[in-house]
Amino acid sequence: MFSLSSLFVVASVLFSCAVAVPATEVEVVPRAAKHAAASQDAPRFVAYSDKWVSGETGPPSVDTIKGFNVFILSFLLTSSAADQAQEWQEITADQRSTIKSQYATAGISLMVAGFGSTEQPTTAGANAASTAATMAAWVKEYDLDGLDVDYEDFTAMDKGDGSAEQWLADFTTAIRSQLPQGQYILTHAPVAPWFSVNDAFKGGAYLKVDQTVGDSIDWYNVQFYNQGTTEYTTCSTLLNTSGGTWPNSSLFEIHASGVALDKLVIGKPALSAGDANNGYIDPTTLAGCLATAKSGGWNAGVMVWQFPDAAAAWIETVRSQAFPE
Ligand SMILES: *[C@@H]1O[C@H](CO)[C@@H](O)[C@H](O)[C@H]1NC(C)=O
Ligand SMILES: *[C@@H]1O[C@H](CO)[C@@H](O)[C@H](O)[C@H]1NC(C)=O
Repeated sequence: MFSLSSLFVVASVLFSCAVAVPATEVEVVPRAAKHAAASQDAPRFVAYSDKWVSGETGPPSVDTIKGFNVFILSFLLTSSAADQAQEWQEITADQRSTIKSQYATAGISLMVAGFGSTEQPTTAGANAASTAATMAAWVKEYDLDGLDVDYEDFTAMDKGDGSAEQWLADFTTAIRSQLPQGQYILTHAPVAPWFSVNDAFKGGAYLKVDQTVGDSIDWYNVQFYNQGTTEYTTCSTLLNTSGGTWPNSSLFEIHASGVALDKLVIGKPALSAGDANNGYIDPTTLAGCLATAKSGGWNAGVMVWQFPDAAAAWIETVRSQAFPE
């Protein structure tokens, strides 16, 4: 099929195109076209950033969060950006571009979290497809690596009629059509009980979501906190047998229900008071839990709520046994 002469023609055409493009045209390529493909293999070490940090203009220096490889600005609401997401929007395009490239060089994905505990999108009647389109456009305009779906519509999920599960599936499908897998990261941040086998969630909760659109979700930042004073507070209840109010929702029990083990990132609060009502495990004990989980074949990673209460020192301790740097 190939002959030297046809190769020569192709080469000469390419060459003439290359020399014909004026240098100035390269500079007017729209910002969105410069988006580098984004993904983050396990283990993921994830920090959320929501609270205001004195003296800060945009995300922290990469040295401050050494040991993390995903940093999630919070929150992109259905109507507008708030808190650290708003700060990202308000700094200049040049500042964003400089910070983004520093993070990329350090191997840290920079994402935004959508919704959060102040919003109930299904109950409020938000349209899944148009909400996804708006959020995807924001992610592209402000050049982030992806979206974390921090859906906390307990009212809709507690109805048990499948409406929350359907909304999440519709939203996930719609956002993936705008933010394709491999080009953008898409995560969800369910509370751990939404994976429990429990009559409280007759619609199937996140086990149903995982069955319908799990292939489109890169991983879950599972919130193992705020679910009761004795829930997920020991390695045993966190990893092996949750018991209590939310049976079958420890790490390995969720996996036994069919969720891929390498998608189950363990989420914990940074502080015993202030970052969550309960569910705290101190960093040294947590490091031991991770070593136990790793011996059982898990390597998904850890998520923490929230920076700056957890920064480089926190993750260094938490990684020290299972994932030393
Ligand atoms: C749920 O947990 C109970 C008690 O630990 C166990 O007997 C049961 O088999 C579990 N069910 C599922 C579906 O994993
Ligand atoms: C929990 O599971 C891990 C991994 O399979 C195992 O090594 C550990 O012994 C278990 N712990 C308990 C208390 O059963």
